[in-house]
This record gives sequence, structure tokens and C-alpha cells, in this order.
Amino acid sequence: MDLRQALANVVGERHALEDPELRAPYERDWTGRFGAPATVVVRPANTAEVAEVLRVCGDLGTTVVPQGGNTGLVGASVPRGGEVLLSLARLDTIGEVDEALGQVTVGAGATLAALQAACRAAGKDAGLDFAARDSCTIGGVVACDAGGARALRLGTARAHVVGLEAVLADGSVVSRLQGLMKDNAGYDLPALLVGSEGTLGVITAVRWRTTALLGSRVAALVPVASVTAAAELLAALRAEAPSLDSCDFFLDDGLELVVAYQQRSNPVRDRAPVYVLAECAARTDPTDELAAALERAGIDDALIADDTTSREGLWRLREGHTEAINAAGVPHKLDVGIPLAQLERFLEAVPTIAAEAVPGTRAILFGHLGDGNVHVNLLGPDPNDERADDAVLEFVLECGGTISAEHGVGIAKARWLERARGEAEVAAMRAVKQALDPAGLLNPGAVLVEARV
Ligand code: FAD
Ligand code: MLT
Ligand code: ZN
Repeated sequence: MDLRQALANVVGERHALEDPELRAPYERDWTGRFGAPATVVVRPANTAEVAEVLRVCGDLGTTVVPQGGNTGLVGASVPRGGEVLLSLARLDTIGEVDEALGQVTVGAGATLAALQAACRAAGKDAGLDFAARDSCTIGGVVACDAGGARALRLGTARAHVVGLEAVLADGSVVSRLQGLMKDNAGYDLPALLVGSEGTLGVITAVRWRTTALLGSRVAALVPVASVTAAAELLAALRAEAPSLDSCDFFLDDGLELVVAYQQRSNPVRDRAPVYVLAECAARTDPTDELAAALERAGIDDALIADDTTSREGLWRLREGHTEAINAAGVPHKLDVGIPLAQLERFLEAVPTIAAEAVPGTRAILFGHLGDGNVHVNLLGPDPNDERADDAVLEFVLECGGTISAEHGVGIAKARWLERARGEAEVAAMRAVKQALDPAGLLNPGAVLVEARV
């Protein structure tokens, strides 16, 4: 029996896609930089079908790329060529929110927006948010350990995972969905799967920790003269505003690109090199805390938004960077973490470093100031030309930073993992991969370059 038929026998004819037109949306990544044909796209309906799909693939020696919403930005959610593409999109059930525990069990294929809505309906908050909310799935979010603007206060996806259910490469199912807050019996397999980018197991459900829903929000967009001034503002916010919920930044060229792309007028009257977008959230109005922080930082010029529409208007300037950049070309996206003390030096040097590596390269920089998380977007180099990426990543390490803050290593940065983490740590990672997936079935080439087949 051929592979497609064997998989169709598990998931049904309608959900084993071989037609190139039906496969196409699963085969190219969000940026357009990565992707190749899959042998089959398979869409199981539940954990038992996922397990059977992996058993069939193991028996036939076919590698598998797990996929949720395909919004990942490091090339690991799409085939490299010839794999089975395993879509988790149909595992989208969301259980009842347990109000006493503040937890909910979510299918891997449920979108972040659907989880947010379910939490809100129960008077809770999912606690994680970013622009891909309508498409990205909880399985993908957990597999990447995604962050977003609110990670500053509430942590990355990892902080919301109480437990999870996953299918390992041999088709066995591991499950910790009881929601026990204290359970240290044995190794913490769920913790190992968080951030494993589909290389150690396929997540089928997550026990998610919700947070308190804070009804009162106020945001400020603050033009500042330098990164140093931005860091001073961050310090003032931390000192004066316990309600600080997020603190992002972007630069003037990014702002210009976004307003042009969104065809809106620029709401900022006094242009500046750097803009900080900070939001406070509390049960009672946090405006005084925000105002105290602005005063402490000596800021007298800020756009304040205290209703939903105007707050969303400010956030569209920040979140709109990803789409506006994509519309300008196929970007090389390097999501890095930089110590705050090195941030000014880093942001000043990167455009030159990238342009020296590949003449004509344009660098658009923005990110999550409170986490030292910079999104370096390089426009210009051919999708396969990694000279500018390499030059920037080299500089990241020189600055004492990390090559991946929240998007993951994926295919894009696998070559750099050993430089970043060191031989001993990568050897330990290889040992884990070998133990859980000895045949290298799951997401070959992602995270660990040598696992590629
Ligand atoms: P996919 O893209 O489908 O997959 C991502 C990775 O997870 C792949 O390696 C895949 O193999 C693996 N995977 C997917 N599902 C499973 C599963 N069930 N089990 C095991 N492995 C699985 N990220 C941030 O951290 N912060 C942001 O602010 C942010 N903003 C974004 C904004 C936009 C507009 C876009 C397009 C992306 C953004 N991202 C951000 C990237 C982020 O990684 C994803 O949005 C999200 O984490 C991926 O979810 P997904 O379901 O789309 O996963
Ligand atoms: C963001 O913070 O907007 C994202 O991580 C997406 C990106 O880097 O483009
Ligand atoms: Zn981000």
C-alpha cells in the first residue's frame, strides 16, 4: 500500500491531500522565504489519529513536519521537500474554563484568538497576545514558546503551560492534563516539549493557565531621542507602574513604512528616532501610574490612548511592522535578545553591519524593549543568501545576546545553535533528540542541523 493510501485509511480520504493545489497553502511559510512540496498533507481529527499517522510514517520511514497555523517565522513549519505535512488544525476543541483553578484544556489546533475569547467569556485572560492571534494555534505557540508584548509581565507561553498531551515519534501518547499545580514526579516532559519546535513530539492538547482579566487599560506612544532615553523610560515605568503590561519599541523608518503600507496619516506630530509603546493594565484606572512614570522620565510629549479604539490604533503601528515589511520584500527575520546595556550599540551598528555584508541591505528594527528582544528584519538579500544574517548573528553573540528570543531556531538559525549554546549543551540536546526520536522522524533539520535527513 502506498503512503497516501495508508494515511487516508487513518484520517479519511478528504484529509489526506495529494493534489498540489490543495497542498499549496501548507507548503510555503508566512514570509515566503521557506517551503517545498510535501508528499502528502494529512489532517487528523484527534490524538488517536495523530498517533496512528506517526506509526504509519515510522513504519514507512517517512519524515514528518508538524504544522499549526503556519505563522512561524523560522522556516520550521513547512516542508523542506518530501515530508508528510501533519496539520493539527482540526484538533481545535476548547474545554470549559475551570474558574477555581484558572485553567482550561485546549486542543493544539485552537487559535490563540479562540482561546482568548473563551477565557474572556469566563471572566479570565489568556495572558498571551500578538498579531498572529487569529491564525496561530496553541500547539504552535507552545512548540515555539512564543512571547509577544505581554511576556514582560506574564512570561512566554511556557509560563502558561500547566501540562500537555503529546504523541511521541513512536506513536506513544504522554499526557499530563490533570492540571495539578504541584506534580514533580519524574522528569518534566511537558517542559521539555515547550519550545522543541516539533522535533521531540507532536503536541495534541495543552492545559493552559489563565490570568486575571484586568478591565482598565491605558497606553502611551512616546517619541524619545535615543535608546538610552527609551531605557530610562522603561526604568521609570518599572519604578512607578506596577500595572506595566507591555513595553515595545520601533524606529522612525519602521513607522514610516507602516503608515505608508496602512495608508493612514502619521499620528505622531514630533518625529523622533525611537518610539516606545507602553501599556498599563489594572482592575482600576492605571492612568496615574503611567503619568507618574512619564513625569519621572521627564517626558512631556506622549500620545495617550485610554479607550479600546485609540489603543488599538497605536498598537496597529507596532504590530503592523510584520505585514508592512513582508509587503516590501521577502525578509530575513532574525529575532534576537540583547542585554539592555548593549541595546543602543546594537541598534546603531546593525544597519551598517548588514549593508557591509550584502550591499543594499535595508534593516528594519523593532521589538519588545522590556525583554531586550529585537526583531531584525533584513530586506534585500536573496532568500538563500545568508551573509547578512551571519554578520548580524555574529554581532549578537559579541554583544552577549541570544540568536533566538521568541520565534525559535527552526531551519533559519539551526546552523548557529552550536555557536550560541556551545558544544556540551548541543550534545545534550542531541542525546535528548536521539532518545525520543532515534530515527529522526520529526521535523528534520529544525533546531539541530545534524538531524536533517
Ligand atoms: P506553526 O507556524 O504552524 O509552527 C511553528 C513551529 O511549531 C514549527 O516548528 C512546527 O513544526 C511546530 N508545531 C506547530 N504545531 C505543533 C504541534 N501541535 N506540536 C508540535 N510542534 C508543532 N511570535 C512570538 O513569539 N511573538 C510575537 O509577537 C509574534 N508575532 C507574530 C506576528 C505575526 C504577524 C506572525 C506571522 C508571526 C508572529 N510570531 C510571533 C511567530 C510565532 O512563532 C507564531 O505566530 C506562533 O508561535 C506559531 O504558531 P503556529 O500555530 O502558526 O505554528
Ligand atoms: C512581533 O513582535 O511583531 C513579532 O514577533 C513578529 C515579527 O517579528 O515580525
Ligand atoms: Zn515579537
